[in-house]
Amino acid sequence: MQALILAGGKGTRLRPLTVYTPKPIVPFCNRAFLLYQIENLRKAGITDITLSLSYQPDKIEHVLGNGSDYGVNLRFITEPAPLGTGGAYRFAAADIRETTVVFNGDILTDFDIGSFIRLHKELGSAATLALKPVENPSAYGLVETDSESKILRFLEKPSDDEIKRLKINTINAGIYVLEPEILDLMPLGENRSFEYDIFPEILKREMPFYADVMKDDYWRDIGTPASYLAAHMDFLNGDIRGFETEPSDRSDVATKAVIDSRSIIGSGCVIKSGARVTNSVIGPGVQIEEKAIVEDSVLWAHSRISTAAEIRGSIIGRSCHVGRNSILDAGSVIGDKSTLTDYTRV
Ligand code: GDD
Ligand code: MG
Repeated sequence: MQALILAGGKGTRLRPLTVYTPKPIVPFCNRAFLLYQIENLRKAGITDITLSLSYQPDKIEHVLGNGSDYGVNLRFITEPAPLGTGGAYRFAAADIRETTVVFNGDILTDFDIGSFIRLHKELGSAATLALKPVENPSAYGLVETDSESKILRFLEKPSDDEIKRLKINTINAGIYVLEPEILDLMPLGENRSFEYDIFPEILKREMPFYADVMKDDYWRDIGTPASYLAAHMDFLNGDIRGFETEPSDRSDVATKAVIDSRSIIGSGCVIKSGARVTNSVIGPGVQIEEKAIVEDSVLWAHSRISTAAEIRGSIIGRSCHVGRNSILDAGSVIGDKSTLTDYTRV
């Protein structure tokens, strides 16, 4: 059993965070995002993992290495040009002619992959999709099943009318188990989308196509700043099972700084007297000066928050400088290396 992680998208909806950092390795609680997927696959006993890349592949390879630090073997395949989700699988599969678990590279989940694979085998399925019920399916692939979990319909990015008409809310969670016969549905080197081309084709051919609906499993696509931040809040709230964080090092924290027990502080941070950090993730090497306030926020490595600045519900990229007395309100997203003049309001 092998796994393929689709990690070639440009991450446009996560800009400016993805200008210098491709989405698969944006820090999540101070570790490269894909490490959570790799850990999830490793727990299910899958250690041969291929990463299908297209955008900034060298950075991803450099950060993750050959996987030996994480107990897996990582292989990297870079498309000459983006081939779409299905085309990327076909391109990578010259070496993967066996049952394969496919993951969208921007999904954070504690879903049990081992039992998902067992269900796929029991059903004798050619393709099995994990589904998740959500409130608003419009940004996803809407999937209709019968009472035996057989997939009847797949509608990518459904319109409001379609959502109203179908009265279902189970969406494609971006995790699949596929048999190699799916590869035969697409020509090598051509752009194909699982969602727009291949899943409809599987339905047309009436191949065995089933779903596994998540129940109380955690699931989120981290592909927008709002969902990326919300995923951090979920993590700090303990909603995601089974993942560790790097041990915290609070050696340079002034005794008069106040940091709540939920917050994650990276190594080598300096947090000065009177500063207050609440429900936040602070990257390594960050400096937070006197009386600054950081709440419900994510700060990437090596940024400096000057005296009495207030940051709430925001994401600050790498190596930024937030000037003194600045106020950043909920929803601010500041790209890497930005400098905000003293007294800025965002
Ligand atoms: N290698 C490669 N090549 N990867 C790609 C390409 C490509 O051309 N295009 C997209 N990807 C990767 C992205 O990096 C991402 O990890 C994954 O495929 C899905 O692409 P997104 O752009 O994030 O799609 P989406 O979020 O709009 O929709 C998809 O995910 C939803 C769940 O979050 C669809 O699969 C929906 O059906 C699904 O509900
Ligand atoms: Mg996505």
